[in-house]
Amino acid sequence: MAARSSSIPRRALLYVPASSPRMLTKSLGLSSDNITYDLEDSVTPTAKPTARTALREHLTNLSSRPPSISELAIRINAISTPYALDDLTTLAPLPNLDAIVIPKVNSASDLTFATDALRHLAPSRHCDSSPNPIKIIALIESARAIVDLREICASSPFLSGLIFAAEDFALDLSLTRTPSLNEFLYARSAIVTAARAANLPSTIDLVCTSYKGGEGLARLEEECEGGKALGFNGKQCIHPSQVDTVQRLFAPSEKEVEWAVRITIADEKAAAVGRGAWTLDGAMIDAPVAGKAKAIVEKAQKCGFDVDDLREKWKDQEPE
Ligand code: COA
Ligand code: MG
Repeated sequence: MAARSSSIPRRALLYVPASSPRMLTKSLGLSSDNITYDLEDSVTPTAKPTARTALREHLTNLSSRPPSISELAIRINAISTPYALDDLTTLAPLPNLDAIVIPKVNSASDLTFATDALRHLAPSRHCDSSPNPIKIIALIESARAIVDLREICASSPFLSGLIFAAEDFALDLSLTRTPSLNEFLYARSAIVTAARAANLPSTIDLVCTSYKGGEGLARLEEECEGGKALGFNGKQCIHPSQVDTVQRLFAPSEKEVEWAVRITIADEKAAAVGRGAWTLDGAMIDAPVAGKAKAIVEKAQKCGFDVDDLREKWKDQEPE
């Protein structure tokens, strides 16, 4: 069975409508953990065949993934639509594709279908020994999906993350989105909890639909802080101007990384003399706190922090 680990910290996931030749070209000059070319809701039904062909050409013409993009994905149409099989058949065999985002996943059978299709359409990447299968990322956007999360998370060895989509979820439940996002609290928390229980490495939060000016930026920052606090590790973006903010706010802050490095250094020294609980800056540190510090250091390394420099700076840190 293929590994579920994801070596990239998937923080910003930027949608690029596949129907826009200008945006397809523009995407290659952007820096983002993930670029997701969209064939679903940003493309009208009549434009889908042309957009699919344009996307195939765009991806085929790439000799390799641009270094500023860590993951190239496509969002196909929902499995229940007449477009999904054509999307998969046309695009899954392409070598530059890292992941497929599947919208409106309602039950485990949607992902079983996609998994079988990937095994059939790109067999060498989906045999047991393949190191780089095309990963699946599932959009959770209905009440039905929320109650079936456990089965959905267990349905494919290629599943590498969940995304919460607020607008379709609000439609399904006849909710009105408010700036507090309180109406989504249960669904968002259920998603991060189910993903963690199934050891999925990535959970991506809702789109911030306002992207213009100071007000858009303030809303985006507030939503990023809220999503991070709930346990999400990233956020969907619809405009390139959102990506830097999302990547910065979903990475550990400098202060957090420094704290984590000090803890890990002092914890090694405390452990060497048999101390499981000790203090730093007047606060008690024990196994879960030291474990959290270790996880922050690992994430910081993946996000490009110079952790060795910090370890050198704090090499004399002792447990208090
Ligand atoms: N990906 C790549 N490039 C994008 C982009 C995106 N998502 N959004 C905007 N751009 C480009 C524009 O083409 C423009 O490029 P240019 O300077 O070469 O002309 C530049 O960024 C500035 O764009 P701007 O004028 O501010 O925005 P816009 O009015 O052209 O587009 C949206 C606004 C919201 C329509 C557009 O951002 C968009 O389509 N976003 C994605 C929507 C989507 O995929 N929805 C489904 C998933 S929720
Ligand atoms: Mg949707």
